[in-house]
Amino acid sequence: MRIAIIGAGYVGLVTGACLADFGHAVRCADKDPAKIDALQRGRIPIYEPGLDDLVARNMAEGRLSFGSDLCWAVEGADAVFIAVGTPSRRGDGHADLTYVYQAARGIAQALKGYAVVVTKSTVPVGTGDEVERMIREARPDLHFSVASNPEFLREGAAIEDFKRPDRIIIGVEDDSARAVMADIYRPLCAGHAPLIFTTRRTAELTKYAANAFLATKITFINEIADLCEMVGADVRDVSKGIGLDTRIGQKFLDAGPGFGGSCFPKDVSALIKTAHDHGTSLRIAETVAEVNERRKRAMSRRVIAACGGSVRGKTICLLGLTFKPNTDDMRDSPAIALVQALEDAGAWVRAYDPEGMEQAALILNEVEYAGDPYEAALGTDALVLVTDWDVFRRLDLKRLRDGMRWPIMVDLRNIYSSTEVEAAGFLYTCIGNGRSRPLLPLIATS
Ligand code: UDX
Repeated sequence: MRIAIIGAGYVGLVTGACLADFGHAVRCADKDPAKIDALQRGRIPIYEPGLDDLVARNMAEGRLSFGSDLCWAVEGADAVFIAVGTPSRRGDGHADLTYVYQAARGIAQALKGYAVVVTKSTVPVGTGDEVERMIREARPDLHFSVASNPEFLREGAAIEDFKRPDRIIIGVEDDSARAVMADIYRPLCAGHAPLIFTTRRTAELTKYAANAFLATKITFINEIADLCEMVGADVRDVSKGIGLDTRIGQKFLDAGPGFGGSCFPKDVSALIKTAHDHGTSLRIAETVAEVNERRKRAMSRRVIAACGGSVRGKTICLLGLTFKPNTDDMRDSPAIALVQALEDAGAWVRAYDPEGMEQAALILNEVEYAGDPYEAALGTDALVLVTDWDVFRRLDLKRLRDGMRWPIMVDLRNIYSSTEVEAAGFLYTCIGNGRSRPLLPLIATS
């Protein structure tokens, strides 16, 4: 099949590279000439494990190409995927569809024969209808279909998620679109990924419902973690205990500093707005958004408490800045609120992140950035584990502690067990463990 992808951002690039790898001929267009120039020279603008090799191989084998001209990409395509950004609109939390509609107008002008226009970007219910209306208005003569094919991939595991998905959801309104979409995904169906055909509106809503549900799961366990601390229980065991019930499932039950990233906060907020637009409210989703924001801000209070009640004049080491490991993405990362609150409380912040420091420096310019975890910890008064990068799981704890002024560790990701950290001489506190609480008096009296 011949496929055009509009937008060479995160979703567009991964979709384009993976579809090319399935044997399709993929042309990917982006209006940012600098990005296209870099891609044509084999440079990938984002950090995603394995993506550079996948792009390079498919470019070399002639299945994947990049350009800045939308007409060139769309020419002769059986399907045109819209994979542009849908950021949160300033002020009202709605998804901003400017780029989607711009792409739809461009596609309307460029199409010469039948094609399926597919929204891959996460778009509110009804967007597919509007895209269809716009194209039909511009080109009343044209034979085309509009489908919804939401993407469920996670940053850091994007290629694996695309190639081995739990399911593929396709919303179509006619048989022609259904046939084209079935052809595109045939290589995946051989691997038994269930292909679920439904209506366009159902597909659009499914994506938001999935993200809001996962965000709810995380927020639920985070609140249980707080309760664990109060009653002297351990959230890791509670997670395991409830997660082994297959009706609940073990994934997304890791308590932490609150969810961030480019999807969950924006999608929960857009879903809430959709409900309001239809005269109803999603009270659980609203509470999730509110509790998560509050949680991110509350993380600084944990650090301050662990430091004996004040961080004024102290230097705090942060390990990890990105919203999760294996990405350089800082969007809505819990680290942002944490750094700002610590600085407001009079602390200096020194940080290390394996991939995120360049992005972080654009937002957090008062932070001192270090070359490795040990340099970051040197001479500091407390160490805070913010992101669960694998490299932080195998730190030389003794070396880390020996370099610090005060051996305090606040583990916001529950990477370590208290036994091993305390054996290395640290005073340790983590999330959702009643045992962590004696740390405070210990520090205050030392
Ligand atoms: C998410 C969805 O998982 C994906 O299906 C969708 O397509 C896009 O949004 P992503 O934002 O890449 O993917 O990250 P994800 O791995 O889902 O993590 C989101 C946030 O939740 C991170 O801040 C992460 O640290 C946090 N999280 C996740 C937890 O705090 N605990 C968990 O158990 C899982």
